Amino acid sequence: MALEYEQLDDALERPRPSASPLDPFGLERPPDPCAVVIFGATGDLTHRKLVPALYDLSCHNVSPSRMAIVGFGRRALSETDFRAAMTEAIDSFYGDDSRIDQACGSCVREARYLQGDFDDLQAYQRLADLLAELDEQQGTAGNRIFYLATPPSLFPVIIEKLGAAGLARRGASGDVAEHAAPEGQGWTRIVVEKPFGHDLESAHQLNVVLREVFAENQVYRIDHYLAKETVQNILVFRFANGIFEPVWNRSFVDHVQITAAEALGVEHRGAYYEEAGALRDMIQNHLVQLFALTAMEPPVAFSADAVRDEKVKLLRAVRSIPPEHVDQFAVRGQYVDGTIDEQPVIAYRREDRVSPNSTTETYAAVKLLVDNWRWQGVPFYLRTGKRLPHQATEIAVQFKRPPHLLFRDAEKLGGQIPPNLLVIRIQPDEGLSLRFEAKTPGQVIGLQPVEMKFSYGSALRELPFSAYETLLLDCMTGDATLFNRDDQVDEAWRIVMPILDRWAATPGHGLGIYEAGTWGPEAADGLVARDGRRWRQP
Ligand SMILES: NC(=O)c1ccc[n+]([C@@H]2O[C@H](COP(=O)([O-])OP(=O)(O)OC[C@H]3O[C@@H](n4cnc5c(N)ncnc54)[C@H](OP(=O)(O)O)[C@@H]3O)[C@@H](O)[C@H]2O)c1
Repeated sequence: MALEYEQLDDALERPRPSASPLDPFGLERPPDPCAVVIFGATGDLTHRKLVPALYDLSCHNVSPSRMAIVGFGRRALSETDFRAAMTEAIDSFYGDDSRIDQACGSCVREARYLQGDFDDLQAYQRLADLLAELDEQQGTAGNRIFYLATPPSLFPVIIEKLGAAGLARRGASGDVAEHAAPEGQGWTRIVVEKPFGHDLESAHQLNVVLREVFAENQVYRIDHYLAKETVQNILVFRFANGIFEPVWNRSFVDHVQITAAEALGVEHRGAYYEEAGALRDMIQNHLVQLFALTAMEPPVAFSADAVRDEKVKLLRAVRSIPPEHVDQFAVRGQYVDGTIDEQPVIAYRREDRVSPNSTTETYAAVKLLVDNWRWQGVPFYLRTGKRLPHQATEIAVQFKRPPHLLFRDAEKLGGQIPPNLLVIRIQPDEGLSLRFEAKTPGQVIGLQPVEMKFSYGSALRELPFSAYETLLLDCMTGDATLFNRDDQVDEAWRIVMPILDRWAATPGHGLGIYEAGTWGPEAADGLVARDGRRWRQP
């Protein structure tokens, strides 16, 4: 099965790092030494994301001084082959073939590879022996990260076998404390890649399997979107400034639009995408997370559980969409032949590994209502699509119009001057902008909308770290703030399930077509127009 690709981070140019004594993350102390075991070590994610991230961390001297990488895969590779593949991954990430930096390349030179079938218990016993050997020889001190970088269908069997081989180490009582293993034996953590389930039922099942083997505080469910600087900046923006929070509610906000537009099509992910569709691929996870950060209450502390408690509270307050009213809350579409950047692009149904009769949505828009005091009556519109005019991810908060207009221009415009708009841009050009009215020069009072802008890249020193580096490091330090908890995952599925069920029961019903290079199907305009609103074009 071809799987998800994240092109966005790749677009950023990063300098190839060399060993640096600085700690650019500002950590007070380096994380504990540990072994990182990657299941699916011959895959695309390992090649394009994990290996470059681990290398970069060791170059910046922030990964544990004794970090051992162990690849686990079904292919019969020698350790030399595996190390060569890692070197190649680092070269292609940095776009050159200069040699791996001597000082920080030990994670590559000493990497180990273990060939085995994921359902073969003996392979896990060999893994246990290898990890014990690494504790002795490389000082990894019994600390382990198991990273599941395989297709999701393999997650349950790997989790079960880790448990059966005694590698989960919940501790003797089964009631696991923070570090999960008896004192002095190190900690064990498991990172689970997305997608986390295919629907509520399968996500629930995966949680059951995980809970049988690991304690919740050992589990790190990844959503790499949450590690982007600008996404984390939403919390700082909201809760480290005094002026925004007082207007961040139903008295001042008219509605919120959260958009993740992609100009790309499905590339070589046709088979995966046919199963997933836009709602599962983007809205259930990334956009719901952006929504949660935008709408949640202030947490009592910036700690993993405090932040996640507030997110879950918010998600629980999202009104369930009645199955018979799905069409009023959600729209789906699929692109046909069109043009982007003056280049012709083919219809989704003509893409590789896509059925010529496919009813899979490549565009989805959803309206969410929140039943709490802060947001009662304020709609949140979430939309995503492929083959839209250009790439843009943003959160646009539109404020209410002023209650009374004094100026002649406003009268000319029928009292409809553009309302204030705050846009948080996630990518590209991360930053913020605030639109407001200003006086045009001259004797007569005329109005003109202007923008105040903050660009993250030019105003602040941009850290050269990818989302995966941040997340790996957080996992090494035991900070789960940016990872999803089981109840969050359940709630996110609960929100979208009525739409998924209705769409599955009525394939093709209401599937609007849109030309590639346009902003989606007409019905999407109807979704907001019914409420007297319009989509903005990022
Ligand atoms: N790739 C990305 O950019 C990306 C981004 C976000 C999330 N993810 C998630 O990360 C995980 C891995 O993605 P990926 O793109 O790396 O997948 P992938 O390249 O298709 O495969 C990953 C690994 O799983 C192994 N594998 C695949 N099918 C197998 C099977 N039936 N039995 C045994 N081993 C099998 C592959 O072995 P072979 O090499 O021998 O085929 C490879 O080592 C997925 O959960 C995906 O959703 C990926």
